[in-house]
This record gives sequence, C-alpha cells and structure tokens, in this order.
Amino acid sequence: MKIAIASDHAAFALKAELSAWLAAQGHVVTDLGPDSEASVDYPDYGYKLAAHVAEGKAERGVALCGTGLGISMAVNRNPAVRCAVVSEQLSAYFSRDHNDANVIAMGARMIGIEQAKACLTTFLATPFGGDRHVRRVEKLSNPPFARETA
Ligand code: RB5
Repeated sequence: MKIAIASDHAAFALKAELSAWLAAQGHVVTDLGPDSEASVDYPDYGYKLAAHVAEGKAERGVALCGTGLGISMAVNRNPAVRCAVVSEQLSAYFSRDHNDANVIAMGARMIGIEQAKACLTTFLATPFGGDRHVRRVEKLSNPPFARETA
C-alpha cells in the first residue's frame, strides 16, 4: 500500500520507527517530514499530509504529534480526508469500518511503539463497511456550511 507519514518534532522518533516498520512489510512509504527533532508546527505537516492523501498520492496517511490531537485537527481541515485519533485497536477498527478513515493519528506521548504498531496494523487491514455508512461519510466531505457559502 502507498502510505504517507508526517509528524511534528514530538513524534519524530515514532515516525522514524513506524516508517521503517511499514517499509519492511513492503509498503511504499513517503515521509513528508520533518527530517529532524527541531521544533516545528504540527499544522504545517498535517496540511501537507492531508493534501498528499487528497491528491491520491497515497492511499492512507499516518499523522503523528505529541498527543495526536493537534495534527489530526489540521488534517481534518481538508474535506477530502477523514482522520481519526486512535490509541487502541477497537477505535482503529471502527475508524475504518464505519468512518472510512484514510488517515490515522496517534500521539507519541500517549502510546508506546507496540500499541502504535497494533493500531496501525488494524487500521491498514480493516475494510470500509459501506452500506449505511456511505451516505454519512459522503456528508463529511460536503458540510452544509460549505454549500451555503459556495
Ligand atoms: C508539541 O509540544 C505538542 O503541542 C504537539 O506535539 C501536539 O501534542 C499537539 O497537539
């Protein structure tokens, strides 16, 4: 699978570890940065990751920061992308089955590497459930406030 990954400084080490682990499984991983632990602003990397996924350059995205919260907020500003903050596997499962999430966000200060790998494995392996969820997911890309101001 083509997977893009991005973080801020707080999750730089987690990004490196997950990138290598994904690549070792045969995934094609695009690391969108940053390339050091120097302090950066998570919105810059969240926006970059969201655009990459929205443009179809990657099938899935992995967004990492200290808590997973800030970068997920940035990613979700792009209406073509659905990002779920996850710290356990059941949420990772439902983010795919019900929400067709195409980006997973995790917090390097919240979970350990093994839990992050478990969540990511579930996220990548779980298909979208379709059916009644299709209509709801489509509404996420077409919010009423966007229609009113268009
Ligand atoms: C950086 O200190 C921290 O605020 C960031 O990694 C993230 O947790 C924000 O949501």
